[in-house]
Amino acid sequence: MPKSGIEGKARQTGYIAKLLHKKSISKEFGQALKYIKSNTEKLKLEEKAMVRNLYHEYERDIKIPTKLVTEIVEVSSRSQKVWEEAKRSSDFDKFEPYLTKLVKLKREVCEKVGYDDSPYDVLLDSYEPYMKEKTLDKIFSSLRDDTIKVLGKIEGSKVKEKIGKIKIPSIPIDVQKELNKAVVADLGYDFSSGRIDEAEHPFTTWITTGDIRFTTHYYEENFIQALTSSIHECGHSMYEQNHDKKLAFTGLDEGISLGIHESQSRTWENQIARSMAFCKYFIKKARKIYDKGFRKISADDLFLILNEVKPGMIRIRVDEVTYNLHVVLRFELEKKLIKGNIKPKDVNEIWIEKMKEYLGVKPKNDGEGVLQDVHWSSGLLGYFPTYSLGNLYAAQFCSKMEEDIQDIDSKVEIGNFKPILKWLTDKIYRFGHIYTADELCKKVTGKKLDSKYFVKYLNKKYGKIYKFL
Ligand code: CO
Repeated sequence: MPKSGIEGKARQTGYIAKLLHKKSISKEFGQALKYIKSNTEKLKLEEKAMVRNLYHEYERDIKIPTKLVTEIVEVSSRSQKVWEEAKRSSDFDKFEPYLTKLVKLKREVCEKVGYDDSPYDVLLDSYEPYMKEKTLDKIFSSLRDDTIKVLGKIEGSKVKEKIGKIKIPSIPIDVQKELNKAVVADLGYDFSSGRIDEAEHPFTTWITTGDIRFTTHYYEENFIQALTSSIHECGHSMYEQNHDKKLAFTGLDEGISLGIHESQSRTWENQIARSMAFCKYFIKKARKIYDKGFRKISADDLFLILNEVKPGMIRIRVDEVTYNLHVVLRFELEKKLIKGNIKPKDVNEIWIEKMKEYLGVKPKNDGEGVLQDVHWSSGLLGYFPTYSLGNLYAAQFCSKMEEDIQDIDSKVEIGNFKPILKWLTDKIYRFGHIYTADELCKKVTGKKLDSKYFVKYLNKKYGKIYKFL
């Protein structure tokens, strides 16, 4: 899209959003919904789910005045521009008044919607329906403590030095494009229901049923970036591509929540593609396409680079082990902001303290610290936890998958991903949004969400790599 079209498009989408909001809280719709909700006994499972999902959103939307919705959209769009400048000049003070405004508006939303325990529950619910701060407190605090323990064990390992010396060969972008396409096709991405394009930031987008696309970004000097991000987005896409066809156009042909969605991108990106078996498959395939470049890297070295653990400043660039600490930090800050326990002007200082405490690193400036993410400036408070929920759900689902599929590694090594895609489709993808996250987790694993599966996975995998088992 050409740059000059942005303002026009913003107005069009704004207008459509307003129409949609009006329709979704209209009297007719509300009455129909309430009528069906009190007469559900004859409905089928899918129909009950449709009513549950629609009513859940209706119940929230109807309580938020349109004026407040519009104000948040307006403040967010202005705030995003200020954030960009503040980030560029590494100056949190510039952004702080906007953060103050957004927090105030978001708190107003929480008060209008209402809550039992914490106003933060209202915000969480927009991205992870039915999730509560209390539940996250418990899960995230043990995840945080266990992760710090794992990090401590890695810290003293001699393997770190060895990884630092491995060189990534540069690979022409044309080759990377061909290779990435071939890899995601092997994983099971259906090109008759999607396509891959390039963009600054990789993302997946649902155009309509049967058209699920994703983007990636290539770097000649680091093929691993496009490879891992393509596989991540491919995971999101395959979830959407494999909903049961009978759910098309019912509103149920979508993922359950951001956390469950992220669990599917992380499953493919981390659990599968960061395994030794995958590296063997990949190097063999890559050498067939471009031997000259890929002869310079072995499967063993690729595996080590893919799993290098190094506390860093920028959330989107860090490894599987430290990643969740970045999320927990943000969760701890935003819940306190919303409850009024801390002020927006204190956020920067607490950020720096927590980075030191959890990761042992200190941001050089606000740009690589508190200002690094776009989320808060766009009004996305309560969003961050879904990233870590994705990691936790992925580990819990995969521990079950490993029980059900014999010797996954030997299949992955020869590029046979079909049993994995079939298992995920049978257990998760085909159901679309029929179940809630909690229901799905219990249905697939027999248990509630628990961080112990992820911690066990970390210890097993990284214990082997960094030799601390
Ligand atoms: Co994702």
